[in-house]
Amino acid sequence: MQIMTSIITKHEMLCDNMLTFKVKTEKNSSELGLPGQFYQIKVPGDDFQIRVPISIYDVEDSEITFLVKIVGEKTIKLKNMQLNDELSIIGPLGNSFAVSEKEKYMFISGGCGYAPLNFLFKSLTKNNNHQSPNEKGGKILWIHGGRTKDEVKFAVDGKKVQIICTDDGSEGIKGFVTSEVSKELYIQSYDKVFACGPDPMLREVMSVCKLFNKKLYVSMEAYMGCGIGVCYGCAIKLRNARGKYTYARICKEGPIFNAYSIVWEEIIQ
Ligand SMILES: Cc1cc2nc3c(=O)[nH]c(=O)nc-3n(C[C@H](O)[C@H](O)[C@H](O)COP(=O)(O)OP(=O)(O)OC[C@H]3O[C@@H](n4cnc5c(N)ncnc54)[C@H](O)[C@@H]3O)c2cc1C
Ligand code: FES
Repeated sequence: MQIMTSIITKHEMLCDNMLTFKVKTEKNSSELGLPGQFYQIKVPGDDFQIRVPISIYDVEDSEITFLVKIVGEKTIKLKNMQLNDELSIIGPLGNSFAVSEKEKYMFISGGCGYAPLNFLFKSLTKNNNHQSPNEKGGKILWIHGGRTKDEVKFAVDGKKVQIICTDDGSEGIKGFVTSEVSKELYIQSYDKVFACGPDPMLREVMSVCKLFNKKLYVSMEAYMGCGIGVCYGCAIKLRNARGKYTYARICKEGPIFNAYSIVWEEIIQ
């Protein structure tokens, strides 16, 4: 983990509220992080010095790409940045997805929850042995959801995501990802399910996976103070197998957790 000054080398709006940008660093790709990890990005002009946590979408040579949903003050400031602007970033932070070459996975993403799974997909397919189930011997099925056609269009390239859902039916299947998850788990078996997206989606996915007795790992989000494990501002409550409660920091022990260890009632009222 390091503080770095990076330079914006690509900055593009994918639709009204989705931004992708790339920064160049002085590190090489092996030092820039693993799938599931994130960076704390300092937004220019923020007097309180609070950074915004953003997952790694991709790493190539000395560059990192991010995918950002514009929701409020800090992400609007990222939207207003320009090519060649300097950006202070701290990372890579947090844990990463535990994977093995031989396993079969289901990926489930909602909105910008696509980002960490994109990087995971790339790392699992780099030796070409984890193609989609549409090809022979495939090992990843990816279901992605968003509100509208516009919000999911970056994922509609036919190469990674097999099932697209939109709330309004303007692209792919109308409805939430969860009904597709249960259909697919009924048809095929998967070793692990990885899910990233809004908390209500994650909790629904957890209920479905529990019915099918599937291992589920989720990437959790929270407001972050320090982002480096010092302030405990991002702690979530966990329950271990013996029913004992403990706390874990999303920025340090997370953001990826076994979904069955999370006390969801304390996250979503
Ligand atoms: C580990 C981690 C990785 C993340 N990766 C990404 C990513 O790759 N791309 C991306 O677009 N976003 C990601 N986020 C979420 C991102 O950090 C927040 O959207 C951002 O902090 C919002 O800041 P803002 O000032 O623009 O909006 P704010 O003004 O802070 O919030 C605007 C609205 O969004 C809601 N909101 C804000 N932050 C969160 C949050 N963390 N969880 C739930 N609701 C929230 C608020 O309730 C409010 O309604 C990640 C968060 C974490 C913790
Ligand atoms: S944000 Fe400070 S400990 Fe996680």
